[in-house]
Amino acid sequence: MKDILEELASRRARAQAGGGERRVAAQHAKGKLTARERIELLLDAGSFEEFDMFVAHRATDFGMAEDRPSGDGVVTGWGTVNGRLVYVFSQDFTVFGGSLSETHAQKICKIQDMALQNGAPVIGLNDSGGARIQEGVASLAGYAEVFQRNVDASGVIPQISVIMGPCAGGAVYSPAMTDFIFMVRDSSYMFVTGPDVVKTVTNEVVTAEELGGASTHTKRSGVADLAFENDVEALAETRRLVDFLPLSNREIPPVRPFFDDPNRVEESLDTLIPDNPNAPYDMAELVGKLADEGDFFELQSEFARNILTGFIRIEGRTIGVVANQPMVLAGCLDIDSSRKAAKFVRFCDAFSIPLLTLVDVPGFLPGTAQEYGGVIKHGAKLLFAYGEATVPKVTLITRKAYGGAYDVMASKHLRGDFNYAWPTAEIAVMGARGAVEILYRSELDDPEKIAARTKDYEDRFANPFVAAEKGFIDEVIVPAMSRKRIARAFASLRTKRQDRPWRKHDTIPL
Ligand code: HXC
Repeated sequence: MKDILEELASRRARAQAGGGERRVAAQHAKGKLTARERIELLLDAGSFEEFDMFVAHRATDFGMAEDRPSGDGVVTGWGTVNGRLVYVFSQDFTVFGGSLSETHAQKICKIQDMALQNGAPVIGLNDSGGARIQEGVASLAGYAEVFQRNVDASGVIPQISVIMGPCAGGAVYSPAMTDFIFMVRDSSYMFVTGPDVVKTVTNEVVTAEELGGASTHTKRSGVADLAFENDVEALAETRRLVDFLPLSNREIPPVRPFFDDPNRVEESLDTLIPDNPNAPYDMAELVGKLADEGDFFELQSEFARNILTGFIRIEGRTIGVVANQPMVLAGCLDIDSSRKAAKFVRFCDAFSIPLLTLVDVPGFLPGTAQEYGGVIKHGAKLLFAYGEATVPKVTLITRKAYGGAYDVMASKHLRGDFNYAWPTAEIAVMGARGAVEILYRSELDDPEKIAARTKDYEDRFANPFVAAEKGFIDEVIVPAMSRKRIARAFASLRTKRQDRPWRKHDTIPL
């Protein structure tokens, strides 16, 4: 028996050594942790249970029969994050560059199947040179098996990807189908084809960092949600994200202890809106003042900054926030902000996370760039997402709600449950100046007349009461009381049920 135990211990030690000391040292020298070190940081101490430690590849070409390391370049298993079940795979760059073979893929698929069956999130720590070159089509088949499971799990369990190394070719498409993508600055990359292929095909000279680094994907493309300084920070923030999410669509989001009075009166909100209606203010300040303990987990904070998306808690319960940001592009909607918010609204709706929408929007951004880029379809994504969302929807208009953007931002007409406005709200087809220029074109050369017309329009429409008279606004509330009113609204909606007609699936504008 002793011999058998020794044999087990020595096999385990060999598997845990990954690609050996030299490659581990190279990994550390790049500022990267190993696959196992990452799992240790991600999960609660001592909670990790491994699957398939002894799985080895079956390839024989290119001398592979003599090189069959245990684990085959990926560590898989399950554990807990603050006591809650999660499944995890962590690619081991020290073994064949973390490349994906047939058996490597099978290990990931096993985790995905278990997670789906048991209703718990999958967290993928990606650090891989892509398809295992020695395996050819077997590796491509492995990728597709993973992709299919990403699709099957979508909207059923949360899927989180942390990009902690290179991620090229097919390797980007699995993360792309997950719900959240985090990257590590200066050590992670995502691209369909790398700089060398780009040079050959398009003659563009570009570095890996410029083509697919964390900055590119969190600021320009919007592919990734957030970028972090190093592995440790990325993993700590992944734990923080998990705390906001339900384990599956069969569960409600977790309820956390809170130490912030839901009835807290926030006098400073009475003066948040500047006297000048065109002056900006920071919508993030309002989000922080509504949230329990001011805690706002913002997503895509560097992309389409004219809209804020992220999670807060009210009375300890997760709330998804979408808020126009007047500090950037005056808070208008455009292609990127519509896509960003639509994706977030759909995630929240899929996972029973109530939605709080804070509105200060002067309309859609005009211009050829927007029209040629298809703003009609992209704007419609957000409209569609709000219209199909059946989770509790509470909306607060702080200032402008103009035109189509008024309709889009979780208006009463898209089945908003509580539609509040501050007394500073202006709900109209467009701003006063633009309206007068259209209605009174013949008077444009008379500035006095135009000024009088503008004042008249403002008096009539630059307030929330016309909409309130029609019942489109349920109540005009005192800003200082916003947290209390919103908390009570969400509390009253905990038993909400709203059914939609049967269909196979909708045809959301893509
Ligand atoms: C097998 C691989 C590998 C791969 C790296 N290695 N990528 N082994 N298949 N795809 C091995 C290397 O041979 C090396 O082994 C070790 O991993 C580390 O690689 P290095 O090149 O020394 O590391 P580094 O300089 O950091 O460069 C990392 C890299 C580079 C940028 C990822 O290795 C690279 O470009 N790899 C190929 C990427 C690629 O083209 N993949 C296929 C994409 S196409 P030793 O023994 O020396 O340690 C694809 C199609 C999928 O994925 C389609 C699905 C639909």
